[in-house]
Amino acid sequence: MQTRNKIAERLRTIQPSGIRRLLSSTHHIPGMISLGLGEPNASPPRHVLEATKQAVNEQKTRYTPSNGIEELREALAKKFAREYALRYDPDSEILVTIGATEAISLALMASIDPGDEVLIPDPGFVCYAPAVRIAGGVPVSMPILENDGFKPNLETVMSLITNRSRVMIINSPNNPTGSVFTSGDLKRLSKLVVENGLIAVSDEVYEKITYDNATHHCLAMFPDMRDRTVVVNSFSKSYAMTGFRIGCALGPKDLISGMLLVHQFLITCVDSLSQYAATAALEGPQNFVVEMVSEFNKRRKLVHERLNEIKGIDCTLPKGAFYAFPNIRALRATSENFSEFLFKEAKVIVTPGSSFGKYGEGYLRLSYAVSYKELDEALDRIEKAANKFK
Ligand SMILES: Cc1ncc(COP(=O)(O)O)c(C=O)c1O
Repeated sequence: MQTRNKIAERLRTIQPSGIRRLLSSTHHIPGMISLGLGEPNASPPRHVLEATKQAVNEQKTRYTPSNGIEELREALAKKFAREYALRYDPDSEILVTIGATEAISLALMASIDPGDEVLIPDPGFVCYAPAVRIAGGVPVSMPILENDGFKPNLETVMSLITNRSRVMIINSPNNPTGSVFTSGDLKRLSKLVVENGLIAVSDEVYEKITYDNATHHCLAMFPDMRDRTVVVNSFSKSYAMTGFRIGCALGPKDLISGMLLVHQFLITCVDSLSQYAATAALEGPQNFVVEMVSEFNKRRKLVHERLNEIKGIDCTLPKGAFYAFPNIRALRATSENFSEFLFKEAKVIVTPGSSFGKYGEGYLRLSYAVSYKELDEALDRIEKAANKFK
């Protein structure tokens, strides 16, 4: 008998990540500078590496509890109490995950039924739409437009809410635009979430990376939000621990226990060594984060100034994360075509804005988490190439 369909229907609309596609084909080209990936160029703090070695020496190499080692859940509870005055029970309201990526998927799998709609920021982190589809839901684009300071427009958001809406994903500091939502922005969004009986998934992986007078506020701090919000965080960005693949989710008991159920049967538990490393990251000195952000700040100023000197490119000053999101509409090219041109002509990889959703068209994303020297060189090359572009 012939096999009917080789892959499941719900996977057919998902395209592989545009960022990864470009990077995997170009990894070995000499002289190429990549501003493509969202990964700090710093090494993790020394005490994190030492804690990992110690865990190896002590052979802490067995399965751990599914929700994570107790030390790490306790350290997370303390962090949220200290920084945001939020109390989470380490046993039932905190889950250690494989990066924020797993936490986001788990939150969706635990909360939506087939056909439920999920409002996702557009442009937004590339995993959101696929994660919604894998969970059986329908992603609904919530425009994050430059005219609105790269923040959701409340009237537009209201018009997108239907009786199938179930979850809203909120991401501040924002990837790819670099915007940071103020406490007023978050308060107004929260009100919409509460009034419409939605669940919020708040992706706060860039919480520590803000500049000038911008500050991060945890979404669960706003009125009536704690018990309807899954806060997602990660060690990837704040501690430059991308390869450790470790993150967390904090939320009300019912949602976290639903997430734990999926996590338990999907992956059992997170890598034990990464959990000891993450505990050390939270319990050790925090000056690493401050120093890294101060380095990013120099690069942010450079990238903003240099891009605005290029004819046809206009860049808003980012307030958070480590991305510049320049407007290239005046060049009259699609973001894909111009990125390809830069790739061939300048040997620089940038990400086309269209990879982040339809409202990302007309923009590029440049990650400035590379060294200052490389960034400066990449900007020289971009400027030269852009002047030749017709
Ligand atoms: C907004 C956002 N959320 C989540 C992630 C994923 O982080 P992790 O490495 O913890 O899976 C990223 C990574 O680029 C991101 O930009």
